[in-house]
Amino acid sequence: MDGGIAGIGRTPIVRLGRLVDEDCAEIWVKLEAANPTGSYKDRMALAMIEAAERDGRLRPGQTVVEYTGGSTGSSLAFVCAVKGYPLRIVSSDAFAKEKLLTMRAFGADVELVPSPAGITPDLIPAMMKRAAEIAAEVGGFQTDQFNNADMVNGYRALGTEVLAQLPGPIAAFCSYVGTAGCFLGTSRAMMVALPSLHRVVVEPGESAVLSGGPPGTHHIEGGGIGRRPPQLQPSDYDEVIAVPQAEAFAMARGAARSEGVFSGPSTGANLVAAVQLARRLGPGQRVVTVQVDSGLKYLAGDLYGEV
Ligand SMILES: Cc1ncc(COP(=O)(O)O)c(C=O)c1O
Repeated sequence: MDGGIAGIGRTPIVRLGRLVDEDCAEIWVKLEAANPTGSYKDRMALAMIEAAERDGRLRPGQTVVEYTGGSTGSSLAFVCAVKGYPLRIVSSDAFAKEKLLTMRAFGADVELVPSPAGITPDLIPAMMKRAAEIAAEVGGFQTDQFNNADMVNGYRALGTEVLAQLPGPIAAFCSYVGTAGCFLGTSRAMMVALPSLHRVVVEPGESAVLSGGPPGTHHIEGGGIGRRPPQLQPSDYDEVIAVPQAEAFAMARGAARSEGVFSGPSTGANLVAAVQLARRLGPGQRVVTVQVDSGLKYLAGDLYGEV
């Protein structure tokens, strides 16, 4: 009955061998590209749809509407295809073409808000506005990922999987934040067993709003939206690490070539932050971070395009 949905979660975790040396803490990376659409967003898409089915907010056959950079949209398109819901997506040409094509491959209707400069502070609000208009026009159910509490719960299993895979102490967890769903769901589940876990949110250096900087334009897809994500409170984290875009991109390339961890810019940012933490914490400690998604989603863009 569940088709490909049954393949969500239970992803591997691996220890990096080369990006840190013996003076550093261990770095463990949860390989979320192993999810069916190649992204951890499969977890939250399923959680948003099934919670709305359970409490009647989503009716059989009702149109689902979402604004998305394309990762959430790809996962929603996958889940909606299997469950038989039409899907209207608002996205932008600022995001990877592969993601836009993936949404269409699963049968979603995709509308683009043009933003050739990249992810500007105005882009996400413009996409949200258009999604609300569509939902009103078609009587659709808006998953509204930034304000959706179910999507945070969708990541709790990621945290409990880490605890089962790495018994014993874990010093720190770091994760790039967009909606902050992955960071919140995973860190809350880990805190149940590890109350002194050092929780680190990661953001782009060019739009380091959580660090107190101004909003700005960048190309680390999936986060750095130019304002605090509505579900993330200052008490939810212990530290913010701002990673410049160029370092995130260089790390993504380097991790593919030295560790075989093939991913996108947001994973690059996670790894830059994890290496900083591992250097600071030193031997005998463990840092956990996440490979957000597969590098296959970024082959047509600038990340792997240069030789
Ligand atoms: C590529 C990518 N990286 C990171 C994130 C951030 O994840 P979250 O929304 O759970 O904070 C997203 C979310 O859209 C994403 O698409």
